[in-house]
Amino acid sequence: MKKTKFLIIGGTGKTGRKVVESLRVLNQEVRVGSRGAEIPFDWDNPKTWDDALNGIDKMYITFQPDLAVPGAKDAIEALVNLAKTKGVQKVVLLSGKGEQEAERCEAVIMNSGLDYTIVRANWFMQNFSESFLLDPIVQGVVALPMYQYKVPYVDTGDIADVVVESLLHEEHNGKIYQLTGPEGYTFPEVVELIAERTGREIEFVPISLEDYVKVLNSMDLPEGYSWLLEYLFSHIITNLSNEEITDDIELVLKRKPRSFSDFATEMAHSGIWNATATISE
Ligand SMILES: NC(=O)c1ccc[n+]([C@@H]2O[C@H](COP(=O)([O-])OP(=O)(O)OC[C@H]3O[C@@H](n4cnc5c(N)ncnc54)[C@H](OP(=O)(O)O)[C@@H]3O)[C@@H](O)[C@H]2O)c1
Repeated sequence: MKKTKFLIIGGTGKTGRKVVESLRVLNQEVRVGSRGAEIPFDWDNPKTWDDALNGIDKMYITFQPDLAVPGAKDAIEALVNLAKTKGVQKVVLLSGKGEQEAERCEAVIMNSGLDYTIVRANWFMQNFSESFLLDPIVQGVVALPMYQYKVPYVDTGDIADVVVESLLHEEHNGKIYQLTGPEGYTFPEVVELIAERTGREIEFVPISLEDYVKVLNSMDLPEGYSWLLEYLFSHIITNLSNEEITDDIELVLKRKPRSFSDFATEMAHSGIWNATATISE
């Protein structure tokens, strides 16, 4: 019998690389889809998609930079149409919880006729260790707007485990999973926790969204990046339904999600927030 072949788009990214690792441990046949992969896949160059999809049965899609950006729906539509002609049977899509724009992309997949699972995630814990919130933590001053909202950050390892389950088992077909961590934290609470775990002084500075956007615009950021961050702060953090805590991780994995406290302890010990800091127990 032919072995199922998986394409993991964004397979070296925050969730994708964990999906790739887990599938390989399970002796599955996996192809990484990214610009730097052996068979390159580039969202900005559809000519690369055909080769990347050759022989693929199931795929995990992480879109770049975000399903909310203009053009995302058209790109997802074009990829899914091609995937159907290439014999792909199932798609697992990483989406954002409470993102209306992302839901338009989800609908493309749900109406495609392919088997699918939609994985809607809240903000990642790893935004503080592998993304745009790492630098301010390292510098010791975190200035952010929307600091009164509680965010139930979710661990990318938990997301990857749900994705792997969904890719491997047909009982997850047609499901939408909404993934959150077990408790919500405001930005000042996150900063306080990281300061405590690292033994460092880290200041939280409350600022308005307007001032935050002015700072972003004064920086040399990739095109569209500051628009995207403004959108995420004004539409996602402020969406009160995103303070909700779900039990979908436990439903799928039969175990509790990782807590932000455990994440903070582990990252503090890794030294990523300050190589020279003394770690508090
Ligand atoms: N961060 C959050 O809190 C959050 C929450 C909910 C949903 N999401 C969604 O998560 C998705 C991102 O997933 P992620 O965080 O796992 O990935 P990530 O770490 O942002 O992605 C990096 C991966 O994408 C590849 N990549 C970058 N640009 C590419 C392009 N133009 N074409 C093809 N591949 C490209 C990179 O490899 P190469 O450099 O080799 O191309 C790498 O494999 C986004 O759609 C975002 O909306 C994020």
